[in-house]
Amino acid sequence: MIQPAPAKLNLALHVTGRRADGYHLLDSLVVFARHGDAVEVVPGASALTVDGPFAGDVPVGADNLCLRAARTMGTGARIHLTKNLPVASGIGGGSADAAAVMRALAAQGHALPADPAALGADIPVCLAGQPARMRGVGERLDPVPEVPALPIVLVNPGIPLSTPAVFKALQRRDNSPMPEPDWHDADSLIGWLGKTRNDLQPAAISLAPAISEVLTALEGQGARLSRMSGSGATCFGLFDDADSAARAARALARPDWWVVASELASGPVRGYTSTATV
Ligand code: C5P
Repeated sequence: MIQPAPAKLNLALHVTGRRADGYHLLDSLVVFARHGDAVEVVPGASALTVDGPFAGDVPVGADNLCLRAARTMGTGARIHLTKNLPVASGIGGGSADAAAVMRALAAQGHALPADPAALGADIPVCLAGQPARMRGVGERLDPVPEVPALPIVLVNPGIPLSTPAVFKALQRRDNSPMPEPDWHDADSLIGWLGKTRNDLQPAAISLAPAISEVLTALEGQGARLSRMSGSGATCFGLFDDADSAARAARALARPDWWVVASELASGPVRGYTSTATV
């Protein structure tokens, strides 16, 4: 069975503190796109094969997160990964793939690991696979009001960013938490998001100034809100309707940019709807 490993988006990401071990305390609204990687997991000796547009960027050694995910569940597995998402790009990638492997193995009767966060801060939310408020260093998840299926455009300027490097470039680590999640439709969600931030965005821009160019370009194409996800460099734009999103994606096409029109998933992503990949 093929498991989707959808792109994770931090619609808001506040950095509220730092633990003694150096990990940062976060307060984030995490949602998923109807676009992403896919994994197929069959019983067998540990092996990983990869195809897809970003296959060449995936390390396939024993420390690959998919293989580590299987090991933490006490089993080997033959894993095939279709890598549609750029790596080191702030939209889950490795965590989404590892969580999809865990889900596939759980469906085959293996127990989920007791501490999935040990493998990556984003793995618990990727395992949950639906919109959530994520706190702590990623292990604390709370439900949020229903997230409308807003059309989105994802843009990555083709610059991989190291998550630790972005956290290191942060100017302030004791920022305010998000306001209480409170919306009931697209307009009120966008209004609520206007009161939130991605605290990692200025730090990421200091390392990759092209992020500013992406955000300006998304706004120029009519995005109602544009922001960076995670530690970047992928940015998202929220649009009013699917036609405007598709039009914006076409207009944003550049040889060095990865651009996808998709939509937010209100609930668990079981498969991908058609998307315009530019
Ligand atoms: O857990 P993950 O592999 O996603 O984290 C990569 C790195 O990002 C960590 O080693 C840490 O330097 C940084 N990080 C952090 N605080 C978090 C999550 C990640 O400082 N909550």
